[in-house]
Amino acid sequence: MAEIDHFAGLTSAELDAHWMPFTGNRHFKAEPRLFVSAEGMHYTTADGRSVLDGFSGLWCSNAGHGRKEIADAVAQQLVRLDYAPAFQFGHPLAFKLAKRLADMAPGDLNRVFFCNSGSEAADTALKIARAYWRAKGRPEKTRLVGRAQGYHGVNFGGISVGGMVGNRRNFGPALDVDHLPHTLLPENRFSRGLPEHSGEAMAERLLDIVNLQGAENIAAVMVEPFAGSAGVILPPKGYLQRLREICDRHDILLIFDEVITGFGRTGSAFAAQEFDVLPDLLTTAKGISNGAVPLGAVFAREGIYDAFMQGPEHIPELAHGYTYSAHPVACAAAMATLDIYENEKLFERVKTLAPVFEEALHGLRDAPHVADIRNYGLAGAIQLQPRDGESGRRAMEVVLEAYRRGVLLRWTGDTIAVAPPFIIEQAQIEQIAQTLKDILHTAE
Ligand SMILES: Cc1ncc(COP(=O)(O)O)c(C=O)c1O
Repeated sequence: MAEIDHFAGLTSAELDAHWMPFTGNRHFKAEPRLFVSAEGMHYTTADGRSVLDGFSGLWCSNAGHGRKEIADAVAQQLVRLDYAPAFQFGHPLAFKLAKRLADMAPGDLNRVFFCNSGSEAADTALKIARAYWRAKGRPEKTRLVGRAQGYHGVNFGGISVGGMVGNRRNFGPALDVDHLPHTLLPENRFSRGLPEHSGEAMAERLLDIVNLQGAENIAAVMVEPFAGSAGVILPPKGYLQRLREICDRHDILLIFDEVITGFGRTGSAFAAQEFDVLPDLLTTAKGISNGAVPLGAVFAREGIYDAFMQGPEHIPELAHGYTYSAHPVACAAAMATLDIYENEKLFERVKTLAPVFEEALHGLRDAPHVADIRNYGLAGAIQLQPRDGESGRRAMEVVLEAYRRGVLLRWTGDTIAVAPPFIIEQAQIEQIAQTLKDILHTAE
């Protein structure tokens, strides 16, 4: 088999062997986009080019790449304790990390359950919600509510509650879930930060679901504080507060999926703090370990944990967990990541950079094809008008051209998403915006 040198030495058999996730495999393999190293704000491609990371890898490398502190912590942990059984035994770092995370979280979200990804965090939280109501003697409360355009990963609970129909369509029957409408409203186009209009009215659509299903049957509502994967869809002002009120009034648990919004993306540790709404369960992954080692965590309020602490003490109170829950190496990576966030005051840095980022993105308003621009903290989206009959193609072409010109972004449908590491410099924010502007002016 001939070697394809500019493909990082990969043979076509090797390219074929890897069935890539969420990727058009044939499209990719015809012209691979391969990274071979990364440092700070930049990736290096197989053909030796430097690419500015405008997307924190995949919403996860918040402190930038190649962080030596994390590498050292991981290396030391591997030598000291490579693995400890996750069930019936433990290791100290898991408890130390849990306490440290609890101290960062708002309110009494003080009990932390570890898993390995955002998808596992979503399904873990949904199972905790259902089991909680059983523990409280209300086993009929099983129904789950999600939101259109929501993304909660790819496991069966997550795709059911999630509102991205394409992720569910091909997998047969899912859980029977009701969905709130999304909050992408024409009256809020080109909002800067949280949109002004229709927050309470959109949240009150939950009352329709309560009327239909009966609150006595509903276990939980799960939403992202802002939808990331669907293209930074922000909650209009008052929306999350009203959801919280309705959930309180009807004894429904509120779950925030903070896999993207957690660990500083909004400028606060969690969006729950930024938007001042306390959920009952909060899911995280990605930025918890800077993307260096897979890790997820579900935060539960003390009352939820306490409800489980009954029955014979030697029986697991929650029949759930993963071989790699609180993996020592992932815990070490997370500890080092949290040190970096703290020492370099990276969440404060997001707050400082957010206005610069907002200005840069909204500077694209008059560029060709732009239909909407949304932003919060260091998350932003430029929504393009779809090309006739070719939905999603324009944004894809723009992102691929940006990659050729040395900027990594992401497309989702007709939206281009921007979410750089928090160590980004102002000039690099401007570089991203200028690259997009140049491309849009010549894009078909
Ligand atoms: C809000 C949200 N939840 C869950 C997930 C799934 O995370 P993972 O891919 O780690 O399973 C993602 C991934 O982008 C996400 O954005």
